[in-house]
Amino acid sequence: MIQHKKMLELVNHLHTAVEACIDKNDLKTLLVDLVEFTRMHFSTEEQLMKKYDFPGFAKHHQEHRMLLKHLGYLVTAVSNGEYPTFYSDYDVSTDWALLHITDFDISLGAFLNSKNVY
Ligand SMILES: [Fe+2]
Ligand SMILES: [Fe+2]
Repeated sequence: MIQHKKMLELVNHLHTAVEACIDKNDLKTLLVDLVEFTRMHFSTEEQLMKKYDFPGFAKHHQEHRMLLKHLGYLVTAVSNGEYPTFYSDYDVSTDWALLHITDFDISLGAFLNSKNVY
């Protein structure tokens, strides 16, 4: 899915920005862009899951909510002047996006393909 490519680009961008210790305000902008895109992407998937009656909807939806909560937590932390780190409460590693795509989205993709949705 083309949206996954864009989402991973945004996640990688954020990761690189934190490594480079960019300015907090610039970091917040990147984070907000990522959150907005992720929200839109999750909603796209959820609409397709509902439309085609995907059997794993409840679990997948719950996972999306959990990830958005994590991202919301990061936005609050950065807004409060904290600087995110890797593999902590303020984790900005790329893992969450990659794991979600491999653990959840691949099976959704296969299901949608079987319904002739690509
Ligand atoms: Fe998903
Ligand atoms: Fe996805």
